[in-house]
Amino acid sequence: MLAHGDDRARRSTATEPGPGTLCQVIDWFGPKSFTFGGERFRIEVEAAVLYHMRSELGDWVLGKDQNMVQRFLEQHGDRLDRRRVVELGIFEGGSVVFDYLVCKPDRLVAVELRDHRVAPLDEFVDRHGLGGTIRLHYGVDQGDLVTLTRIVDEEFAGAPIDLVIDDASHLYAPTRASFEVLFPRLRPNGVYVIEDWDWAHHDEWQAEGGYFAGQPALTNLVVEILMFAGTRPDIVTEVSITERVAEIVRGPAELDGAIDLSSMYLARGRVFEPVF
Ligand SMILES: C[S@@+](CC[C@H](N)C(=O)[O-])C[C@H]1O[C@@H](n2cnc3c(N)ncnc32)[C@H](O)[C@@H]1O
Repeated sequence: MLAHGDDRARRSTATEPGPGTLCQVIDWFGPKSFTFGGERFRIEVEAAVLYHMRSELGDWVLGKDQNMVQRFLEQHGDRLDRRRVVELGIFEGGSVVFDYLVCKPDRLVAVELRDHRVAPLDEFVDRHGLGGTIRLHYGVDQGDLVTLTRIVDEEFAGAPIDLVIDDASHLYAPTRASFEVLFPRLRPNGVYVIEDWDWAHHDEWQAEGGYFAGQPALTNLVVEILMFAGTRPDIVTEVSITERVAEIVRGPAELDGAIDLSSMYLARGRVFEPVF
C-alpha cells in the first residue's frame, strides 16, 4: 500500500476543473488510493480482496474503481441539489464518507444488511457532529419493502429524495424491490444509480458456487427499466449505461407510493420474466 503523501507514487494531482469539479479535487496516489476532503480512501472492486479490507478513521475502504469515483464526483459534486441522499450498502463505510463529502447533503440515509456497526464510521459521525445528517440503518435487507418504506418515511417525512445509490446486493429481486420503493420518491430530475449492473457480462463473476452463481442477471432489471422508460417517459426521462453504473433519471409525473414495476411497461402483451 502506498504511503500517504508519497510524492514518488503520486500519479495525478487533480481532475481538471470542469462540470461538477470546480472546487472539489481528488488527489490520486496511484490507481487505488486517493485523498478527498481531508480523508484517505483505498478503492477495490475485486470482491476477494475487498471483503478482507478494513476501514479506519481517516483511511476508508471504498468498493469502487477509479472511473466510478471520478464519474460520481463529476455527476454529483459541487451541486446544491443533492440534499437528500439514500445509499444502499454500507460495508466498511467508505462510500458513506465519500458520498457525504461529495454531496454535503442535509440527510444521507444509509442501509446495510449486516447488523454489526462500523466503528470508524460511528467515530467519524460523532467527531463531526453529523448524527442528524448521516443516518445509518444496519440489519436491513434492501428487499424488505416494509422496512425500507418505514425508514424513508421516517427519515424524509415525505420530502422527495434527490439521489439514490444502490451498491448493495446486486441481485435481481432485492435490487428491483428497492427500485420499486425508492424510485417513485425521487424528485423530478432526481437520479437513481445502480452500481455493478453488468456483473453477468464479466467472466470473473460467474464462478460456480460463487455469490452470483445461479442468480438471474441484474441486466434483466435494466431491460425492464428501459421498457419502463419507453412506456412512461413522463416517469423515466433518461437511462444512462456506462461500465458498472446505470443511472436512471426521474421524470415529473406524480406517483402515489411504491410502484409495481411489471405494470409500468408495455411488452407487446407478454409478461416479462428474467431471460438469463
Ligand atoms: C460491495 S459492498 C459496497 C459497499 C459500499 N457501498 C462501498 O462502496 O464501499 C456491498 C454491501 O451491501 C451489503 N448488502 C448485500 N446484500 C444486501 C441486502 N440485501 N440489503 C442491504 N445490504 C446488502 C453487503 O453486506 C455489503 O456491505
